[in-house]
Amino acid sequence: MTVDVSKPTAQIQPEMYGIFFEDINFGADGGLYAELVKNRSFEFPQPFVGWVPFGNVTVQDTNPCFDRNPHYVRVVNDGRLLRAGLDNEGYRGIGVKQGEEYRFSVYARTPDAKPMKLSIELVNSNAQNLLKKEIEVSGRDWQKLTAVLKSPFTDAHARLRIVLETKGTVDMDHISLFPVNTWKGRENGLRADLAQALYDLNPGVFRFPGGCIIEGNSLETRYQWKNSVGPVENRPLNENRWNYTFKHKAFPDYFQTLGLGYFEYFLLSEDLGAEPLPVISCGLSCQYESNEVVPMDELDPYIQDALDLIEFANGPVTSTWGKVRADMGHPEPFNLKMIGIGNEQWDKVYVDRLEAFTKAIRAKYPTIKVVGSSGPSASGDKFDYLWPEMKRLGVDLVDEHYYMNPDWFFGNASRYDNYDRKGPKVFAGEYASHDHSTKKDNNFLAALSEAAFMTGLERNADVVHLATYAPLFAHVDAWQWNPDLIWFDNLRMMRTPNYYVQQMYGMNAGTDVLSLKMDGKAVAGQDSLYATAALNAPTGEIILKLVNAGSKPADVQIDFNGLKKRQLVAGSCTYLQNDSWRTVNTLDEEAIVPRVRPVQVKGQSLKLELEPRSFGVYRLQV
Ligand code: AHR
Repeated sequence: MTVDVSKPTAQIQPEMYGIFFEDINFGADGGLYAELVKNRSFEFPQPFVGWVPFGNVTVQDTNPCFDRNPHYVRVVNDGRLLRAGLDNEGYRGIGVKQGEEYRFSVYARTPDAKPMKLSIELVNSNAQNLLKKEIEVSGRDWQKLTAVLKSPFTDAHARLRIVLETKGTVDMDHISLFPVNTWKGRENGLRADLAQALYDLNPGVFRFPGGCIIEGNSLETRYQWKNSVGPVENRPLNENRWNYTFKHKAFPDYFQTLGLGYFEYFLLSEDLGAEPLPVISCGLSCQYESNEVVPMDELDPYIQDALDLIEFANGPVTSTWGKVRADMGHPEPFNLKMIGIGNEQWDKVYVDRLEAFTKAIRAKYPTIKVVGSSGPSASGDKFDYLWPEMKRLGVDLVDEHYYMNPDWFFGNASRYDNYDRKGPKVFAGEYASHDHSTKKDNNFLAALSEAAFMTGLERNADVVHLATYAPLFAHVDAWQWNPDLIWFDNLRMMRTPNYYVQQMYGMNAGTDVLSLKMDGKAVAGQDSLYATAALNAPTGEIILKLVNAGSKPADVQIDFNGLKKRQLVAGSCTYLQNDSWRTVNTLDEEAIVPRVRPVQVKGQSLKLELEPRSFGVYRLQV
């Protein structure tokens, strides 16, 4: 192989490798969003879902605490029954750790103004009540009460219990329990371990809030970002697009509290150092469900939502939506640079709507990049007509999705070699290798095929500007879709081999593509090898990414042309290797993790023996 270091062939966008987030598989509620209480506002269509009431407990909505979440519970202890109260089961249990603190809060009032005692309890999965803390409620007006509970035990399936100890009546709403130790210690915060896993990917771009969830099962249940900002208690509940039959699995208890909403997404983007990429409904509901279409002459409110979103992110504090952002604690703009319109949509109905959005955005915010869609899958040519349409509309990027088998990923390492260089850029917005022979495990074959494919993304960085694996998260007890990048239960999380591939790219992107050839051609599958080379301008390092997908070691010599008098002086290799394609990581053991070893370098060439089934990132100092 030969690497030409004299002249980079393309710039690699700093935001190239990123993350795609969607509230699927309990990704937000029950996952990244650290709230431990399910149905905290009693707004689920069946208001006791998630709760087990005991004694005299009813749901009311007269004179509510929150106008957009009007239901609350009334607990009456009439002195005859021993106890009155309710248990919350959490999201497939409540995960608590011994010695960790949890912030309980509730809005409460006593209709007859008598002071009342509530007992707040943590119950383990053997039904033992191991922690009890009393709080007092008094007054006819709603008030927020809080208590910190230090858990005396560790349990992934604990419950929260609230008991009215004194005779009388108490109304309660928005009953909440968060770990004190959230990501960056924020109230209404994120699960620290999961957010850390995102941070560790070094993502350049952060796409949210989906996925199909943007579009909703119906237009009414599409993701409406305006409902996801402002006081968290008053964000109206929305159906989760993944809450019912998908591949015959029913999730009737899956709703969106929107507690992790647009403000929190922007804040997380900032924390991660990733460019936010919100995607917004274009007036078409999910194509796999109801397929509702907003008529063109009724599209204005949808377009206005997009314009207002840009104002929310970037507008001055004197603007309507900039003020909402400032009131939430972030007067500085979030510096939004791009927005996606529609997800996996096609046909003239989509193109017409995208055109209207694009014109309005260009007119008001000419520097904001617009991302269009190329339909649901790159599996065939059914949607090929969309690219010329995207070019005609002059969108900046086109979102391509591919959930294909490992062979497709290996075979498509040169997919972008011949893409139009004069049209929109590519956003590989959802992709994952699906190994159907193992029920789509996150196994090493899938991961290595993605690593191989990604050499082609990087080699073509002049046309491929963004890439995000999907989906991101899955709860081991509540998932609708696999494979996924990060799996978790209520206490632990597991980084898949696919995660480590993403991390190795994200941490080692480099700044410029260098030409790397074998026998005069890009290395895209010959002898089961895949390779790309980059320069990292700030450090002067050369970064090689090499995949050997074969079952035998491969000896390669890499000559570096254009070094002039410079020499390779030091190097290290971060690598993934496994002898079996089927190996997976589990919550108990991560069998596949990157390892690091030094690389012996000398002169202007490198001799390597690439292990079978391996992916290595070589950082070489010159
Ligand atoms: O990533 C899961 C789903 O796959 C997304 O919601 C959708 O865009 C795609 O079909």
